[in-house]
Order: sequence, then structure tokens, then C-alpha cells
Amino acid sequence: MKILILGDIVGRPGRNILKENLEELKKAYDVDLIIANGENAAGGNGITRKVADELFEMGISLLTTGNHVWDQKEILQFIDEEPRILRPANYLEGTPGRGSAIIEVGEKKVGVLNLQGITFMPCNRNPFFVAEEEIKKLKRETNIIIVDFHAEATSEKIAMGYFLDGKVSCVFGTHTHVQTADEKILPQGTAYITDIGMTGPYESVLGIDKDLIIKRFTSSVPVRFEVAKGPAQINAIVVEIDESTGKALKIERINKISSQ
Ligand code: FE2
Repeated sequence: MKILILGDIVGRPGRNILKENLEELKKAYDVDLIIANGENAAGGNGITRKVADELFEMGISLLTTGNHVWDQKEILQFIDEEPRILRPANYLEGTPGRGSAIIEVGEKKVGVLNLQGITFMPCNRNPFFVAEEEIKKLKRETNIIIVDFHAEATSEKIAMGYFLDGKVSCVFGTHTHVQTADEKILPQGTAYITDIGMTGPYESVLGIDKDLIIKRFTSSVPVRFEVAKGPAQINAIVVEIDESTGKALKIERINKISSQ
């Protein structure tokens, strides 16, 4: 089984480049399933019903999120009824939504788990312990399990990769919006990459207009962020998994830049 995983989709530029290229990518890599991190898909902050539906219509089966999940308040009205949008599983008790899901791909089932780091990020439940609990539950249904670890610190992400090595098919990082070149298969068969990067404006600071961010760093007056315009990029990975064992066979990075 081949799964295409798209890095944080940022605003309209991220959605537009997918509209133009996703079908072709799907064919070129012969993928069975597409998932994406969508926490910045609506205007660079959060996700709305309309934007989520736009992404689902493109063929994305599930959206993971992270610290920006609540940025568009309307999500609180529909996340409980929308199993295709996850928020990190290690959020505190009583948080709306869910942190994991099972997706049916033909005869097979794929478990997806969303976690958020606690180093340089808001305090939540320990993602390592929550990962163990959640994976135990998912394993009752499938041995193909994908983990989006939305985290800031590379050390925390790499540690999670080794912590879950052999227990899941893939651990990929999101949140930093910068694709790392450390994709590998860990010793016990888990595909790993520290960050899959961003699907959004190419000439930007993490998706935001670069001049505004420079202003932010050179002024004591707050600056309103806007998604950058111009060329866009798709950052993603394709993971190939042995369906009988759940172990990863291959992990490949995609970094495609548009000329729009
Ligand atoms: Fe984030």
C-alpha cells in the first residue's frame, strides 16, 4: 500500500497548487490513500467547513491538525461530527473532537494518530504515553498505523520515531513547515521523517508574507500576518507499506515548486 502524506497546507496558494497537481501526483506515485495536515488551510489559520470539503473533494481522505486547530471558531461546531478531521490525541480530557481514526482502503484498514509535542508548545498530556494507549486501541483493528507528530523540537520528534519504531508503519513530523532530509526506515521497520514540510507559498516565511515577518522581527509594534502570494510548493512524502506486516518498505520525499 502506498500513502501520500501532504505537509501543512497553507491558505489558498496551498489549496490551489493541490488542485492543479494532486491528481497527477496520485497517478505518478500510484497511491492508495492521501492524507494531509490541514491546520493552516483556511487563510493560513485553522480550518473551516468549506475549506475542509474543498480538500476532501480533491481526494484527501483525512486531515490532521495541531496547535492552530481552533483558529477558526466554527470548527467547534462540527469537529465532533467530522471523523475525517483529527486534533492531537494528547489534548486535555474534555477537548472536542478525536485524535485518531481508522480509514478503510479497499479491504484494508489504516489507522491514523495525531499527536502534538510538549517541548516549546502548550502543555498537554505526555504524547509518548498517549501514543502507547492509542496505538494499543488501533492495533485491535489494523497493523497499518500512521502517526502525525505535530511538534517543534527535532529532538522530541526523533525520540518519538524511535519510541514507536516497530509499533507503527510511519511517524512523520509536521508544524515547522520546513522539510527535513532525514527520511529513513528505522531498525524495526517504521518509516520516519522529522518534518514533511509545507504545501503553500514558496517565497515566504513558513507561508506568511516575508516582508511582514521581517517587519515583525524589526519592530516592537505587532504586525498582522497575511499568507504570501506568488509561486507555491508541495512538500509531501510517499510511504510504501507491507500490508501483511504493517512495516514500511520505502519512504520518499516530494518537493515540487510551481511557476505560478
Ligand atoms: Fe502548527
